[in-house]
Amino acid sequence: SMPLIAAAEMTFNHTITGEALDLSNAEGTDTPAAKHFLETGENLYTEVPNCLAEGEQTFLASCSGCHGHVGEGKIGPGLNDDYYTYPKNKTDKGLFETMWGGARSMMGPHSDLGVDESLKVIAWIRHFYKDDPAEATWLTEEQRKTFKPYDAEHPTSVEATGDCKVPEG
Ligand code: HEM
Ligand code: CA
Repeated sequence: SMPLIAAAEMTFNHTITGEALDLSNAEGTDTPAAKHFLETGENLYTEVPNCLAEGEQTFLASCSGCHGHVGEGKIGPGLNDDYYTYPKNKTDKGLFETMWGGARSMMGPHSDLGVDESLKVIAWIRHFYKDDPAEATWLTEEQRKTFKPYDAEHPTSVEATGDCKVPEG
């Protein structure tokens, strides 16, 4: 039989200090999407319609007070455009690290959400992106072909029609 090769553990680092983030006691690590993310840095919830609604609700509860309802920016910077103060936030791994460990000033850590819920929030943030899909490097090439940027006249909310299930890896 094939030898088993241990997957290299990814390390996650604080956006400002670079210190390793401790995920050893993290909540929400046992879903297929969380396991896949912790091994690869890829978010399987991206553009999965039935997985977006929950991320939207959590974003509204935990993030929109500072970043605006669709990430248009408020006391915190806009999260719906192609500019990030910290360029690594254009990757899902980087965005996760910023959410989990926080950044400067009012941007505190949001590790209380746990890994799985954070991934749903990240998918929602990616969904309300309003700029050129060509700059949306967090999408797969396939997703970039069909992605429709958010447009205020065409609300971006997505009704779930069934359970949130990720594509088989
Ligand atoms: C910065 C996400 C909650 C205030 C950021 C950045 C991200 C982010 C990705 C970096 C943006 C960039 O690189 O341009 C989130 C998410 C939240 C959340 C997903 C909810 C889970 C909050 C809350 C506040 C806040 C509740 C206010 C109390 C700020 C501020 C910055 C920031 C002031 C700028 C910090 C800096 O430049 O170092 N946030 N945020 N955020 N956020 Fe949040
Ligand atoms: Ca921005």
